[in-house]
Amino acid sequence: MKTILVTGGAGFIGSHLVRHWVKKYPDTKVVNLDKLTYAGNLENLKDVEDMPNYVFEKGDIVDCERVSGLFEKYRFDGVIHLAAESHVDRSISDPMEFIRTNIVGTVTLLNAARAAWNGDFAGKLFYHVSTDEVYGSLGDEGYFTETTRYDPRSPYSASKAASDHLVRAYHHTYGLPVVISNCSNNYGGYQFPEKLIPLVINNIRNRKPLPVYGKGLNVRDWLYVGDHVQAIDLIFHKGQVGETYNVGGHNEKRNIEIVKLLCLLVDRKLGRPQGDSETLITYVQDRAGHDLRYAIDSSKLVDRLGWNPSVTFEQGMERTVDWYLANEEWLRGVTSGDYLHYYTRQYGEK
Ligand code: NAD
Ligand code: TYD
Repeated sequence: MKTILVTGGAGFIGSHLVRHWVKKYPDTKVVNLDKLTYAGNLENLKDVEDMPNYVFEKGDIVDCERVSGLFEKYRFDGVIHLAAESHVDRSISDPMEFIRTNIVGTVTLLNAARAAWNGDFAGKLFYHVSTDEVYGSLGDEGYFTETTRYDPRSPYSASKAASDHLVRAYHHTYGLPVVISNCSNNYGGYQFPEKLIPLVINNIRNRKPLPVYGKGLNVRDWLYVGDHVQAIDLIFHKGQVGETYNVGGHNEKRNIEIVKLLCLLVDRKLGRPQGDSETLITYVQDRAGHDLRYAIDSSKLVDRLGWNPSVTFEQGMERTVDWYLANEEWLRGVTSGDYLHYYTRQYGEK
C-alpha cells in the first residue's frame, strides 16, 4: 500500500482532493495534515472520514518535530502540499502568518521529506500546489505561461512565489523529486465565504450588500475545483519531475460579470424577481495593489498530459450555486466566530 501526505486537506481544494483520492485509490493511504485554521473544516470531509484508507492528523506544517514525526510514522511515498494561508485581503492586513505558513511551512516539509527519503528518491514525489498569482498582473492581452517571469505583487502571491522558488531550489540543490502546478482562481462547493463567489452567493441569500472592489473590472480566469483536482491527479501520476504545469480554464470574466451572473442564478433559484439582487451591488474601495488581470495558458498540460477541463463555466457556476443553496448549515457554521470579526474588519459594520 502506498501512503501519501496531503497538507491542508481540510480546506477548500484540499477537501475535494482528499475525497477524490481516497475514493479513487483504495490502495493508497491518504494522511491529511491540517492545522484547522479558520479555513480548515473537518465538516468538509464528513463523508470520507471513516474510509479505511483515510487518516487525519491535526498539526502545523511549521512544527518541525511534528512533521518529521509523521514522516517517520507513515514513511510517505509522496506529498501533495496545499496547506497555505490563501486569501489576498488577509495577507494585506496580516502578512506575517503568510510568511510563516507559506514559506517556513513549505521549507519545513521540504526538509522533512529530504531527511526521510535520504537520497533514495525512487518512487517518491513532492508535489507543490501553487497559484498563477506568482506571475503578477497582465494588461488587456497575453497569458501566463510556465516561463513568464515571476512578479508577485501581494504578500500572498509573494509568499507563494518564495515557496515555489524554494521547492525548485531543493530539486536543483538536493535532487529532491518535485513537481509544481500554478493554477488560476478555483470555484465550487466548500470554499470559505471570504472569497468572491461564495461571499456573493451568501450575501444575496441574506440580502446583504455585495461588495465589488473598485469598478469591478478586474479579470480572473475561473476553473471549477473538480477540474483542478483532476489536473493534480494527472500531474502527480504523469508529470515530469522538476517541471511546472500551468492549470487554467480559459474562462476570463470581469468581477462585475460574475456578481451579476450570481444575482441572476440565485434570484431565479429562490424565485425572486429578475434583477432583484442587483440592487445589492455596492462598489467599495479597491483592494490595495489590486492585480488587473490573470489569464493562464495551460497548453503545456493539455498537449503533454492530455488534460482538459470537463465542466463548462455555465455548468460549474450552476452547480456551485446549487451547492451553497443546499448547504445552508455549512455556510452558517463557517460564517460564525472568527469570520464575523474578519468580515467587520474588512467591510465595516454593514
Ligand atoms: P484554503 O484557505 O481553503 O485552505 C487552506 C488549508 O490549509 C486549511 O484547511 C487550513 O486549515 C490549512 N492550513 C493553513 N495553515 C496551516 C498550517 N500552518 N499548517 C497546516 N495546515 C494549515 O485554501 P485553498 O483555496 O484550498 O488553497 C489550497 C492551495 O491551493 C493553497 O496552497 C493555494 O495557494 C493554492 N491555490 C488556490 C487557488 C484558489 O483559487 N483557491 C488557486 C490556485 C492555487
Ligand atoms: P478573491 O476571490 O479574493 O480571489 P483572488 O484575489 O485570489 O483573485 O477575489 C477575486 C476577485 O474579486 C478579485 O479581483 C477581488 C474581487 N473581490 C471583490 O470585488 N469583492 C470582494 O468582496 C472580494 C472578496 C473579492
